[in-house]
Amino acid sequence: MLMPDTKSALLAALDWQIELGADEAISDTFQDRTSAPPPPKKAPAAPSSPATTSSVSTTEIAENCTDLVSLKTAIANHPHALREGARNCVFADGNPAARIMIVGEAPGRDEDMQGLPFVGRSGQLLDKMLASIDLNRHSEDSAKAVYIANILPWRPVANRTPSVGEAAEFKPFIDRHIALIDPAIIITMGNVSTKTLLDTKTGIMRMRGKWTEAPLGGKISPVLPMLHPAYLLRQPQDKRHAWADLLSLKSHLESQK
Ligand code: URA
Repeated sequence: MLMPDTKSALLAALDWQIELGADEAISDTFQDRTSAPPPPKKAPAAPSSPATTSSVSTTEIAENCTDLVSLKTAIANHPHALREGARNCVFADGNPAARIMIVGEAPGRDEDMQGLPFVGRSGQLLDKMLASIDLNRHSEDSAKAVYIANILPWRPVANRTPSVGEAAEFKPFIDRHIALIDPAIIITMGNVSTKTLLDTKTGIMRMRGKWTEAPLGGKISPVLPMLHPAYLLRQPQDKRHAWADLLSLKSHLESQK
């Protein structure tokens, strides 16, 4: 008989395969396609950006935050036009002791209503992706847990893409957030997060799946850019890339055990 842990892991993997479009068996013989590829060579560190005028004040405010509570209060109180169009400040979700920190773009409608990141359709897909490699934002086991935040804490009106200036202004807050969580691995979800945190103009389609190292949260951290689940909902054929990146993440985690 299967142990409950094994059974739920297999069901989560099956759930993700169905998301990938694998809805029928094409062979009677078992083929193991889950073996993770070896971790790729590390790319050179991304350079950090010069401070912009607009980020100077948020840098000072963020540096004075010594814990998550003070950071949350500072972000919620930071005056910004985006606040006017939003219901709730979306700070974070998950286990602060997690080894993995995911950084998304900005809250959408559901996140704005609930005050939590990734709780709408893309969040549900994200949870399935994580479950397929035995990760869960609410796990009490830090090795299996994930912590999630966004570049922007406020929902841009009509879900428009955040501007470069907005992302730059809030960058010191997410950088401090990363420092306080001190994760072993950072995942940048989608274009805005990847470009902002890695200080690059290269788009996510080129960056995804490529491990890099970046000066974030006061140290050099390994970063894995991944496709955003909202993009995967629109382009399901690209879920195969997300699967490859999840296997790479799994292999990286196993190599650190
Ligand atoms: N997309 C994001 O990038 N973040 C969320 O919290 C929700 C959707």
